[in-house]
Amino acid sequence: MSSKLKEIIEKIADLPSMPDVAFEVMREVDNPTANALTVSNVLARDPSLSARVLQLANSAYYGMPREVASIRGAIVLLGMRTVKSLSLVAATFPWLQKAMQGKGVDPDYLWNHSLAVAFVSRAIARATGTVNPEQAFCIGVLHNLGIVVLCTLKEADVLALAQMQDGSDTPFTIVEESAFGFNHADLGAALAESWNLPEAYSDAIRHHHNPDLATRNVMFADILHLADTLVRNADIDEGLGNLVFQVSEHSASRLGLEPDVIEQVAESAFLELNGSGKIFQQVA
Ligand SMILES: [Fe+2]
Ligand SMILES: [Fe+2]
Repeated sequence: MSSKLKEIIEKIADLPSMPDVAFEVMREVDNPTANALTVSNVLARDPSLSARVLQLANSAYYGMPREVASIRGAIVLLGMRTVKSLSLVAATFPWLQKAMQGKGVDPDYLWNHSLAVAFVSRAIARATGTVNPEQAFCIGVLHNLGIVVLCTLKEADVLALAQMQDGSDTPFTIVEESAFGFNHADLGAALAESWNLPEAYSDAIRHHHNPDLATRNVMFADILHLADTLVRNADIDEGLGNLVFQVSEHSASRLGLEPDVIEQVAESAFLELNGSGKIFQQVA
């Protein structure tokens, strides 16, 4: 870890942090004695987080047969692991939504982009049967946390950098590295590590723009890279959409995916995404 990156990570203590309850949910779900009651009791300590978890559980994305009114009901229907993922996503949403506010780009950009990457990642994980689709979804939601942190730090004007890059074909990660000594992928991975998230998160996030360099959790990195590339090519998000990133030609072949299959998978994921509507109505 570069010393500049270390310095930034130390400052993360001053940044908006993950709600303790989201971490407690993660720990509780891994506890062998956990059940619907113990997990819902933990979530009950943070009513606004619980409300967002319920909104997410009831979104068309989960296709529940009927509306669930309680966290306990959501756990019974969706399972503890899914509710754990939902807590993580719900805890991150306010950051993703706020990071771009007042920066002159679409404030919903990061959230829309991250959610699209999550949907496509999950679809690829399912199609290939390689990794847990729910985990791939969560990694997709969190993959640009480094950008959130950069946007929060005054000395790292990521949008000025983005403008600088406009028109040149130098990959944005290289532009970041020459400005800060690290890029948003390194920063996001360091943040995931500091939260003690499973290694798959930090490994995939670190290599989402250069999966060929991944040595662990290569499939997660390939899925995330492919999903990110597909979403950027589909042009469904605006904001930092013009940035140039390297694209690996090896991710798809490592996953054993033919181009026509990739197209089908992406298409169905985009349909699913469009059908899910606005998941969160407001940020509590
Ligand atoms: Fe990225
Ligand atoms: Fe991305």
